Amino acid sequence: MKAVLVENYDHIDNITIKEVAKPELSAGMVRVRIQAAAIGFVDGLKVQGLYQTKDPLPFTPGSEFAGVVDEAAADVEGFPPGTPVIGMVRNGGLAEYICAAGADLFVAPKGIEPAVGASFFANYLTALYALSARGKLQQGETLLVLGAAGGVGIAAVQVGKLLGARVIAAASTDEKRHFAVKFGADESLDYTREDWRDELKALTNGHGADVIYDPVGGELSLQAFRSIAWNGRHLVIGFASGTIPALRFNLPLLKGGALLGVDLAQIGRREPEVRDRVIAQLFTWLSEKTLVPVVGKVFAFENFHEAFKAMTTRSALGKMVVRIG
Ligand SMILES: NC(=O)c1ccc[n+]([C@@H]2O[C@H](COP(=O)([O-])OP(=O)(O)OC[C@H]3O[C@@H](n4cnc5c(N)ncnc54)[C@H](OP(=O)(O)O)[C@@H]3O)[C@@H](O)[C@H]2O)c1
Repeated sequence: MKAVLVENYDHIDNITIKEVAKPELSAGMVRVRIQAAAIGFVDGLKVQGLYQTKDPLPFTPGSEFAGVVDEAAADVEGFPPGTPVIGMVRNGGLAEYICAAGADLFVAPKGIEPAVGASFFANYLTALYALSARGKLQQGETLLVLGAAGGVGIAAVQVGKLLGARVIAAASTDEKRHFAVKFGADESLDYTREDWRDELKALTNGHGADVIYDPVGGELSLQAFRSIAWNGRHLVIGFASGTIPALRFNLPLLKGGALLGVDLAQIGRREPEVRDRVIAQLFTWLSEKTLVPVVGKVFAFENFHEAFKAMTTRSALGKMVVRIG
């Protein structure tokens, strides 16, 4: 079968598709024929060896995919051949087949296109877990989404609206701000402007943001925290800017605000019931079509480099997807 193979941590242009052995089935595993895989910001870092944890070489990148069951091991129930599934794994998605643990696979809701299935899981799970379980976002509250046109950002815009918040999308270009408004943001602002906090103040009548969803980090996070409402919650999602900010403790004190961490990688282990509840809610919204996830751009398998480049050049709108097979 064909798979993208990272043999050395390298510039994305030097990574190629190789012919490799089809993965063998073992106990507890399900082999899936992949139809689409999604690329996130972290994947772009991983192939270059720049992520905080390194995958042992060689490896196939891609942690999210959608496809159909090829075969399941005898001890795995619920995945007969042909079942459409969505998977979230450590790596291996950019390949024609993958063997994944049954526990990492979910039967896809009816009628979900592979590109949608592949691009949906991590971003929307992060957004709903962060906004509901961590941020306790309430109807009518104001949600400020930083990096609002990126993968996790646009998911938070949509989920924030579904939870009944007023959503203010912050992004760096007109195109990105229009994108966020198209997918439901009530207002948008340009956070590259010096006076962006004044604009936020005006938009909220001096109240500030009740919840701040922050996948960007850096100086922007420190500025945003200064605009948090009393009893506000600042959700730490990630550091796409490349800089981890250091917040002085007097600010939460003076602002009556809280800084809350969000880590998708740990919720299955630490809060399995919460994770299952969040997934069930997302699947209900998907089946009802209350939530129509944003698929950014879809690339052919042989053009997978372009999907990575969009992530590493700050130009991606939504999630980048690679169609396979
Ligand atoms: N905590 C969790 O469980 C969790 C789950 C998923 C992802 N994440 C993290 O969330 C972050 C964003 O992931 P993503 O997949 O949404 O990425 P993405 O699609 O590339 O979006 C990131 C956004 O950050 C902004 N940004 C600001 N400075 C940037 C820079 N120097 N380079 C790139 N982007 C920059 C960009 O918006 P503007 O151009 O508008 O500024 C961009 O749209 C990553 O750090 C990822 O690791 C965390």
